[in-house]
Amino acid sequence: MTQSPFKDGLLDGKVAFVAGGTSGINLGIAKRYAELGAKVAVLGRNPEKAANAAAEIGHGAIGLTADVRDYGAIRAAMEDVRSRLGPMDIVVSGAAGNFLAPALGMSANAFKTVVDIDLNGTFNVFRGCHDLLAPNASLIAITAGQAVNAMQLQAHACAAKAGINQLIRVLALEWGPDVRVNGISPGPIEGTEGMARLAPDASTKQKHFERIAMKRWGIIEEIAEGAVFLSSDAAKYITGTILDIDGGSQLGDATRRDLGSGLA
Ligand code: NAP
Ligand code: COA
Repeated sequence: MTQSPFKDGLLDGKVAFVAGGTSGINLGIAKRYAELGAKVAVLGRNPEKAANAAAEIGHGAIGLTADVRDYGAIRAAMEDVRSRLGPMDIVVSGAAGNFLAPALGMSANAFKTVVDIDLNGTFNVFRGCHDLLAPNASLIAITAGQAVNAMQLQAHACAAKAGINQLIRVLALEWGPDVRVNGISPGPIEGTEGMARLAPDASTKQKHFERIAMKRWGIIEEIAEGAVFLSSDAAKYITGTILDIDGGSQLGDATRRDLGSGLA
C-alpha cells in the first residue's frame, strides 16, 4: 500500500475498542489504531481467535470474548476495557454474519440470526458503551453496500445493514455534540471471510471487478485508513455520515460500453 498520510503517535493516549476485531477488516482497523499509538481491545466469540488477534496486534492489545447478541456480556466486556485501559475514545462495531441464501431458502431463525448479530449487535455495542466513553468519542459502525442496494440472496444482510445506516444517523442526532457516530461502508475486500462467502469462485470475482469503477477489490489497509480518519481530529465536524470506501462500487455498473459516435 502507498505510504499513509497519518503520522506515528496520531492516536497516542487514545483507547480503542473493536467489536468483531479478531479477524478480517476489523482486525486490520484495530492494528492500524495500535500502530498509531492507541491502546486497543478486540472482541469476538472465539477465545483462540481473540488471543491470536491480540498477539498479532501487539502493543499490549487485549483480546476479549462475548457475543454481541448478548447485551449483558458485551456490556461486561466493555466495562472490563474501561477498567483495564481507561475510558474509550473510539468504538468500532464490526461484528457480522453472512451467507448466500434466497429468502425462501432461509428459516425465520436464519434471517433473525444475521439481523441479531449485525443490527441488534451494533445497538448493543453503542448503547452499552455510552457511559464508558471519553469526551469527544468517535463511534464507527461497519455497514455495507447491502444497506442501499437490494441484492438477491441477501435479504437478511440488506435489512440488517440498512437498519445500521439509520441507527448511525439517529444516534448521531441524539448523542452530539459529545459523541460522533459514523459508518464505513467497505466495497468488496480481498482476502476476507465476507468475500469468500459472497464471491467464492474466480468468475464471480472477475464480474465484480468489471462492475467497479476502480476495476479491483479493495484491501483491508484502505478501510483501516478511513477508520483512522473518522476517529481523528481531522473529522471532528463529521457525524452521522457513511463513508463509502468501495472504489465506486455503489455508483452503478462500470462495465465498459462501446460508446461509438456518442463520443463525438
Ligand atoms: P470476518 O473476518 O468474518 O470478521 C467478523 C468478526 O466478527 C470476527 O472477529 C468474528 O469473530 C466476529 N463476530 C461474528 N459474529 C459475532 C458475534 N455474534 N459476537 C461477537 N463477535 C462476532 O469478516 P469480514 O469479512 O472482515 O467483515 C468485517 C465487517 O466488514 C463486517 O461488518 C462486514 O459486514 C463488513 N463488510 C465486509 C466486506 C468484505 O469485503 N469482507 C464488505 C462490506 C462490508 P468470531 O467468529 O470469533 O465471533
Ligand atoms: N443458508 C441458509 N441458512 C443458513 C445458512 C445458509 N448458508 N447458514 C446458517 N443458516 C441458518 C441455520 O440453519 C440456522 O437456522 P435454523 O435454526 O432454522 O436451522 C440459523 O441460520 C443460525 O445458524 P447457526 O449456525 O446456529 O448460527 P450461529 O450463531 O452459530 O452463526 C452465522 C451465525 C450463521 C452467521 C455464521 O455463519 C457465523 O458465525 N458467521 C460469522 C462470520 C461471517 O459470516 N463473516 C462474514 C461477515 S460479512
